[in-house]
Amino acid sequence: MNEAMIEIIQPDDWHIHLRQEEILNTVSQYSSRINNRCIVMPNLDIPITTGELANQYKNEIKKTFQNNSFIPLIPCYLTDSLNLIDFEESLKKEIFIGGKLYPANVTTNSEYGVSNIEKIYPVLEILDKLNKNLLVHGEKNSQNINIFDREKYFVDDELIKIRKKFSNLNIILEHVSSKYGADFISENNNMAGTITPQHMLITKKDVFVDDDVNPHNFCMPVAKEEKDLIALRKYACSGNRKFFLGTDSAPHHIKDKVPNLSSKPGIFSSPCSIELYAEIFDQENALNKLESFASINGPIFYKLPVNKNKIKIMKKKWILNEYTTNNKVKIKNFYGGQELNWKVL
Ligand code: NCD
Ligand code: ZN
Repeated sequence: MNEAMIEIIQPDDWHIHLRQEEILNTVSQYSSRINNRCIVMPNLDIPITTGELANQYKNEIKKTFQNNSFIPLIPCYLTDSLNLIDFEESLKKEIFIGGKLYPANVTTNSEYGVSNIEKIYPVLEILDKLNKNLLVHGEKNSQNINIFDREKYFVDDELIKIRKKFSNLNIILEHVSSKYGADFISENNNMAGTITPQHMLITKKDVFVDDDVNPHNFCMPVAKEEKDLIALRKYACSGNRKFFLGTDSAPHHIKDKVPNLSSKPGIFSSPCSIELYAEIFDQENALNKLESFASINGPIFYKLPVNKNKIKIMKKKWILNEYTTNNKVKIKNFYGGQELNWKVL
């Protein structure tokens, strides 16, 4: 066996879902075991739309890590009717790291999201003025748009408009899932993208199997074609500063995962996400670029310090448990039951 070990600066996860209560208590250990900071998504059942809710949620998260220096960062869940005064104040106080745009009805708990982007131009003006970040779930949902084309339509119909009107605004096209979206990031200024492990490991053939949906491989944006997977691997492994780690690990109770499109979308990868990234970079002969992707490009784009600690990842075979469980929660692990080749020490 090829024994190898790499040491990299401690990573951050620039897009994750930790949820609340039992799920939060169960999954938070996985994020704090690796990362110094996580951008924790605000799409709770009651979305995080005010500074007060964000502070409450940060405290709830911190309680799950005793004596840990782990830092949760939270973007404001943008709605058509946001309180702009509270939003601006909370950005200034660094309660919010930015604003998160969920177009209405594109993913889990997005029903309060933005119905028409022009309605939030005043919000974008505030972000622009304060030099803060717009985090984007970049999918356009409409009856006549194929599920695989939602990202492309979002770029063409919405993102280009935002990019033109607010040319200095920092925009992160989160969990970019297509070559089209990744090329757009690469070609435009003040743009970055997070890339998940799943979009570099599975394609639509792993999601739609014999007319059924494999709910454990089903997430939004949905995994796409081989050419998209290849392009995402290329960008992630290139060292290009615009691309960085965001797992989009999104736990759901197993009972909410059903074999059709009414399944809750979301893949839970945090028990093995850094190991999966290491495997991908190893396959691409780019282990020397893992540190930029996981630990450097993100803080540079977000204008935050790069972490000081280091972590070690070893080439070593192990089998991941199929589920993450406790007495109230059962969640299917991405790659659960399978052999992995890398392990954090
Ligand atoms: C996420 C979730 O479950 O909250 N689901 C997903 O498929 N990625 C929401 C999101 O980021 O789209
Ligand atoms: Zn997400």
